[in-house]
Amino acid sequence: MQYDSHNKFATTTVILHWLVGLTIIGLLATGIYMTENNVYALFSWHKAFGFLVLIVAIVRVIWRMKNGWPSAAANYKPIEHKLASIVHWVLIIATLLMPISGLMTSVLGGHGLSVFGLEVFAQNFSVEDPEKTLPINYELSKLGGTIHFYLGYTVIVALLLHIAGALKHHIVDKDGTLKRMLGKSIGE
Ligand code: HEM
Ligand code: HEM
Repeated sequence: MQYDSHNKFATTTVILHWLVGLTIIGLLATGIYMTENNVYALFSWHKAFGFLVLIVAIVRVIWRMKNGWPSAAANYKPIEHKLASIVHWVLIIATLLMPISGLMTSVLGGHGLSVFGLEVFAQNFSVEDPEKTLPINYELSKLGGTIHFYLGYTVIVALLLHIAGALKHHIVDKDGTLKRMLGKSIGE
C-alpha cells in the first residue's frame, strides 16, 4: 500500500480529504439553511448524507492513524505548526462528533433515520397516538443537539483558518502545501 511521503500524498489521503471535506462543507451550509428557514424537506437529505459521511470519516481516521500526520511541505514558523496542528485535530474530531451528535439528536429524539428510503433507525411512534413521535432519551437527545449546534459553529471558525492557511501557503509562500493535497508531487 502506498503511504504519504514528504513529496507526494497517497491517493487515498487526497480522495478521503476531499470526499469528507466537501461533503462537510455542504452539510454545514444545508444544516444552517434548513434550520434558519425551517426547510423540513432538507432534513432527510442532511441526515442521510451526514450518516454516510460518518462511515467515510471512520475509514479516514483509521487511515490517519496508520499513516501518521503529514510532515510540513515547507519550513513553517513554530506558531504556524502549532495552529495547523490544532486546526487539523479540531477538524478530524469534528468529522466524527458532528455526525454522532446529529444521530443522538435525531435517533434519541425518536425521529429515526432513513438513508434514501432504507430505514437504519425506526421512528419511535407513541402507542396511544401513532401520529406522535416520542423521544427515546430526551436528555441525551438534547445534549446531542447542543453539541451539534456549538461544534458546528466551531468547525466553521476552524475551517476558515484552515482555508486561509492553505491559501496563504499557496499564494504568499508559494510552497507545495495545497499542491500536495491536490495529488501533485512537489519533489525537487
Ligand atoms: C476548500 C476547503 C479546503 C481546503 C482548500 C483544504 C486544504 C488542505 C490542505 C492544503 C491540507 C494539507 C495541509 C498540510 O500539508 O499540512 C489539508 C489537510 C487537512 N484538511 Fe483540509 N482543506 C479544505 C477543507 C477541509 C475540511 C472541510 C476538513 C474537515 C472536515 C479538512 C480537514 C483536513 C485535515 C484533518 C487535514 C490533515 C491531513 C488529513 O488528515 O488529510 N479540510 N487541507
Ligand atoms: C458531518 C456531518 C454533519 C454536519 C457538518 C452537520 C451540520 C449541521 C449544522 C451546521 C446544523 C445547523 C445548526 C444546528 O441547528 O445544530 C445542523 C442541524 C441539524 N442536523 Fe446536522 N450535520 C451533520 C450530520 C448530521 C446527522 C448524521 C444528523 C442526523 C442523523 C443530523 C441532524 C441534524 C438535525 C436534526 C439538525 C436540526 C437541528 C435543529 O432543528 O435544531 N446532522 N447540522
